[in-house]
Amino acid sequence: MKPVTEIANLRILISKYNHAYYTENASEVSDEQYDALMNRLLFLEREYPDLKSEFSPTVRVGSVPLASFSSVLHEAPMLSLSNVFSQEDFISFNNRIVSDLDTEQIAYSVEPKLDGVSLSLVYRDSMLVQAATRGDGVRGEDVTSNARTIRSIPLKLHTDESINVEIRGEVFFMTKNFQKMNLGKKEAGESVFANPRNATSGSLRQLDSSVTASRPLSFMAYATGFYPAGILNQNQLLKKFHEWGFVVNPKNKICTTTEQVIEAYDELVEVRSNLPMEIDGMVIKLNDFSLRDKIGSLARAPKWATAWKFHAEEMSTALIGIEVQVGRTGRLTPVARLEPVQVGGVVVTNATLHNQEEIIRKDVRVGDIVLVRRAGDVIPEVVKSLPSEVSTRGQLFSMPDKCPVCNGPVAQPDGEINLYCINPSCSARLQRSLEHWASRKSLDIDGLGEKLCGQLVNSGMVKTIADLYNLEFHALTNMERMGELKVTKLFSALEKSKTVSLSRFLTGLGIPGVGEVVSRDIAGRFMGLEALGAATEEELIAIKGVGHVIATSIIGFFSSPITSEVIQQLVNVGFDPVEEEKRIGKILAGETIVFTGSLQIPRQKAKELAQMAGGKVTGSITGKTTMLVIGENVGSKLGKAKTLGVKIVSENDFIELVSKEQRRIK
Ligand code: IVH
Repeated sequence: MKPVTEIANLRILISKYNHAYYTENASEVSDEQYDALMNRLLFLEREYPDLKSEFSPTVRVGSVPLASFSSVLHEAPMLSLSNVFSQEDFISFNNRIVSDLDTEQIAYSVEPKLDGVSLSLVYRDSMLVQAATRGDGVRGEDVTSNARTIRSIPLKLHTDESINVEIRGEVFFMTKNFQKMNLGKKEAGESVFANPRNATSGSLRQLDSSVTASRPLSFMAYATGFYPAGILNQNQLLKKFHEWGFVVNPKNKICTTTEQVIEAYDELVEVRSNLPMEIDGMVIKLNDFSLRDKIGSLARAPKWATAWKFHAEEMSTALIGIEVQVGRTGRLTPVARLEPVQVGGVVVTNATLHNQEEIIRKDVRVGDIVLVRRAGDVIPEVVKSLPSEVSTRGQLFSMPDKCPVCNGPVAQPDGEINLYCINPSCSARLQRSLEHWASRKSLDIDGLGEKLCGQLVNSGMVKTIADLYNLEFHALTNMERMGELKVTKLFSALEKSKTVSLSRFLTGLGIPGVGEVVSRDIAGRFMGLEALGAATEEELIAIKGVGHVIATSIIGFFSSPITSEVIQQLVNVGFDPVEEEKRIGKILAGETIVFTGSLQIPRQKAKELAQMAGGKVTGSITGKTTMLVIGENVGSKLGKAKTLGVKIVSENDFIELVSKEQRRIK
């Protein structure tokens, strides 16, 4: 056989096997047979260089490296897509189309939004002559040699006609190919790719196309630069792509009602994690091309299509390390350090692993590719490890038996899965406590951020939150990045914080179990710190949201020598927190008060004082009573009040309270 004939035959045969394997998912020959044919063709092309061709399947292994990419002008700009994030957004997108077209008879092509890199492929006379990345939409980079190595991109369209067309689609990794490739890299001691998208863009933008050839990339077609003659809608176009030898997403669908579109979206959300590739939403396109032309495009995106993005996005990335953070309560939390990845529109570099039990349950190990989830504003979490060969995986992480910050002892309270650093002066705990004290929901202290809290703790200037109020001006101005103006502002913010309401003060203290909501409920029942500090478990449990555990926690906090000392110091520097609404003039508003026992002041006077402060006074204890003021020699009312969970206040506290009110009114 003449070399020219043998070469031609081999090319036809190998292309046929390629198509069957990469596009139709059907293997017609064994790997050995395929390799033998390919090697024979490579040999002949080396022997007869004149017979080389850019359309030979041997280009799939890559060609001579380039010095740089040249830039190419797209025949028609490569637009991007507008986004919608909810059903309502989609309905308004649809309403706009309905009103522009003046018809409700609308068909959409809905397609999974592949999370890869878009690519333009120019075919002349049905032959692939140019491939370019999107670039800025107008000009892209010429990556023709690289695109030729991607097996699912036909070098020649499967047609006898001579077709000129620019086909657009997505280059991406099938998840299983991505995992296999990363495994190979790991075994070779190379660094792994963080996620399929990064790997795609890195693989496509290689000057040496043999590198691209070694990466198992895929391609799916979904659009053209100009609509080919005779093709009237997206559905026909996608069918044509398949005929021409492209892979088309089998999940693409035509929907003729908004309900069907919503159903298609819900279904995609459901099956998303089981799909063979990563997707980040659903593209909704008007099916009919003539209607698209009526609607038109804006500068960057068409008005006839949109991308309905997923909400709580899950993305894969590499787990590069696990660190243990020590929280305000001393709780040790394992935190995953991740190769940066965009999740739900935000770059994520850390995610919580919760605790040892979760690490074991999810079998997450350093070096794994993990799935990271972010839903709304919550802290990102590692959902799971994506499968990989067990033999090459790292050791299972174990939590330390000492605090990683202060090296102090850790303990696991009965019935808890979490470990705690029990050293109350651990610098990590202290820093987190300061950050919490200064945070917006607590005392909202401007200028006291994470960094400064760290500096204050590390310099030894602050050992408790109360120390913040005894700082020396000059000691601060000597610190890094702390000019006089900044320190002055900080001092005034600290001074202002002394007028905080009781509920925010309580939130700021960070008593275990006492967050914003419980703080507010507690502050609604007690006049001030002194009353709260003297509260019994019974009184506390009577408050909505407070059970035995929280009540014990509060009592423990006010009776522990260390924490009660801090509260005393805060009072000494001028804190006297009461609840906001009481502060503004009606300290006893909403209270139904009963007096009992012999009072030092005349009863009538006491009654007037209570009423002036907004309270209502009655003679006997009923279900409506909220406060019992007690003098000397109290009788049965006290017992009754206790059983009803009524707040009990001494006459002195009462006088103190209402006189405070009088001072405020003045
Ligand atoms: S059509 C003018 N269809 O999403 C419309 N795009 O932000 C052109 N994408 O750059 C795009 N899957 O990379 C279309 N089925 C699909 C898609 C898809 C993924 C990407 C594409 C584009 C981006 C839009």
